[in-house]
Amino acid sequence: MMKKGNLLIKNAAELVTCSGFRAKKGKEMSDLQIILDGAVVIEEGIIKAVGKTEEILKQYSEENYEVIDASNKAVLPGFVDSHTHFLFGGYRAEEFSWRLRGDSYMDIMERGGGILSSVKATKEATKEELFESAMKRLDCMLSFGVTTVEGKSGYGLDYDTEMKQLEVMKEVDAVHPIDVVSTFLGAHAVPKEYKGKEDILIDFFIEKVMPDVAERKLAEFCDVFCEDKVFSIEQSRRLLTKAKEMGFKIKLHADEIVPLGGAELAAELGAISADHLLQASDQGIRDMEKAGVVATLLPGTAFSLKEEFARGRYMIDQNCAVALATDLNPGSCFTESIPLIFALATLYMGITTEEALTALTINGAAAVDRADKIGSIDIGKQGDIVILEFPSYKYIPYHIGVSTVEKVVKDGVVVFP
Ligand code: NIG
Ligand code: FE
Repeated sequence: MMKKGNLLIKNAAELVTCSGFRAKKGKEMSDLQIILDGAVVIEEGIIKAVGKTEEILKQYSEENYEVIDASNKAVLPGFVDSHTHFLFGGYRAEEFSWRLRGDSYMDIMERGGGILSSVKATKEATKEELFESAMKRLDCMLSFGVTTVEGKSGYGLDYDTEMKQLEVMKEVDAVHPIDVVSTFLGAHAVPKEYKGKEDILIDFFIEKVMPDVAERKLAEFCDVFCEDKVFSIEQSRRLLTKAKEMGFKIKLHADEIVPLGGAELAAELGAISADHLLQASDQGIRDMEKAGVVATLLPGTAFSLKEEFARGRYMIDQNCAVALATDLNPGSCFTESIPLIFALATLYMGITTEEALTALTINGAAAVDRADKIGSIDIGKQGDIVILEFPSYKYIPYHIGVSTVEKVVKDGVVVFP
């Protein structure tokens, strides 16, 4: 059990609450609900009061709390990185150079590299090695202000290694200040021996792996790489329908490389989020909006693969709820950098700073189905807070590619630096 603190933060130049208990759609994404000269009170890790410093100090005595004076600083909710593959063995630096030379991500994957190369390294890694490297990556994320992260399996593809990944994620969650939301992504790639027999692999996950993952509560979500030459719409539908029956919430890697209809499928199945969406169709975007599926965009991946960015501006204009995440993984996007995501979203996707901030806080929380607990500075939520070294959230993308985070608070305890 992580420590829970009693903390009072006062005199914040801007207390950017991002207030809300569900995903923000379309125009709502611009409304950050800022309190000037704000204060927040946290008791036993939970937010107790939010308001103007003057009002708060009339009701709460400073001597009962650890006090942070946030004069000249902006205070925001902790960031939620709602799509990552942070737990993996080995690295794929050579693939980066191959891609610079002109090889495509899918070409590398088809000749047995890509995800399959991380699968091999993850199988070979001990639990201790996976634990150590994952902890380091989470430390890096924490320094960028991330207080909740979603992490996927999918570098195992067999029973033992998928379980190993999920077990280590649980261990990391227990000791690291960042909260980890686990996702089972067995259907992430097709091992050589299953080429052309993808349906048998899907059966294996449904019959042999997922029931145990569900029973041992090792993952809250089930995800699939729904993509041409990986898992088809039909296979994804079959897997995710069973997943829902077993009590998993669902996510999809959808319409990343080709427009396959993944966004439409996400809406049909009532997925919590559909992710990537570089090639999502107009119909798919309309369907997601209607079904309330969070569109999770991963601009770091598009950037790293030199692909066109997802149509973030269009999606927001179509009233979608958009979240942003890093997609940290050893292949398509090896970065923990929240400042990079802000830079790409604002400078290349036509997303405003306000919308990007919503996308990384309350909408990120909604993308992991926790908008009732995290993602905003609201009474009753976890005391997960970021304090910037600057007086306004506007400095986040303005200070290009550099972290503006001075302190991070988790459950009312200062955990960074
Ligand atoms: O989200 N697209 C599929 N999966 C990951 C990449 C994983 C990898 O390359 O190791 C993604 O980009
Ligand atoms: Fe991914």
